[in-house]
Amino acid sequence: MIDLLPTPLPDNPFETLTAWLEEATLRAHQPNPNAMTVATVDADGTPSIRVVLLKALVTDLGYLVFYTNYQSRKGQAIAANPQVACCLHWDALGLQVRVEGIAVPSPGEESDAYFASRDPASQLGAWGSDQSRPLVSREALIAQTLARGRELGLPESTTLAEVNPPDGVLPRPAHWGGYRVWARAMELWVDGAARIHDRARWERPLVIADDDQAQPGAWRAQRLQP
Ligand SMILES: Cc1cc2nc3c(=O)[nH]c(=O)nc-3n(C[C@H](O)[C@H](O)[C@H](O)COP(=O)(O)O)c2cc1C
Repeated sequence: MIDLLPTPLPDNPFETLTAWLEEATLRAHQPNPNAMTVATVDADGTPSIRVVLLKALVTDLGYLVFYTNYQSRKGQAIAANPQVACCLHWDALGLQVRVEGIAVPSPGEESDAYFASRDPASQLGAWGSDQSRPLVSREALIAQTLARGRELGLPESTTLAEVNPPDGVLPRPAHWGGYRVWARAMELWVDGAARIHDRARWERPLVIADDDQAQPGAWRAQRLQP
């Protein structure tokens, strides 16, 4: 188990989040220690949540990065309302992290670099799936994926198990990329004896300018009753 939070509380909660994620990764209690629930709000006000993988954490600026299809339900929700909430939970460590913030598409070069680092089959999958749209059949989806792969120059012999782009990588589809979740608030929760858990919340002013540049202020922290 992890110790209770220190007093005084850390100035920047991202340092603790980074340490916890490293610890969860090291202990390997769960296959995806970076699994993160992301909540969005559709244009009509309906909330929805799903798990994604937290792929990067930038401590000094205070944002999280995940990758997805920009035309998916979550992508459409974020386009209409960029306010999101995220939650990570490491049950075996007795820890929870909650983040509230604003999602902004990652710069194209950053998404390109991450896309290129994925294995070619995952790259093809991003081209093949119109995420969140109705599916006719699994066979039709596989045929659609392979047809799009051929349009991108993959050989006729390609299967989902054997994807070998001539240049080693496929280009990134414009509808696929990262989101930076700029945190406006973060809550850290540590399991405590007799359900007297340790809970603290950090908040900071956050403005996102028209050019997607974030202007965060300083963090202020306080403990909350559990
Ligand atoms: C462990 C786990 C990791 C996942 N990681 C991602 C991810 O990184 N990006 C993504 O788009 N979907 C990921 N998914 C699938 C999403 O949960 C979700 O089904 C998909 O993104 C469609 O969501 P939407 O229709 O709300 O947009 C993951 C699912 C699980 C269970």
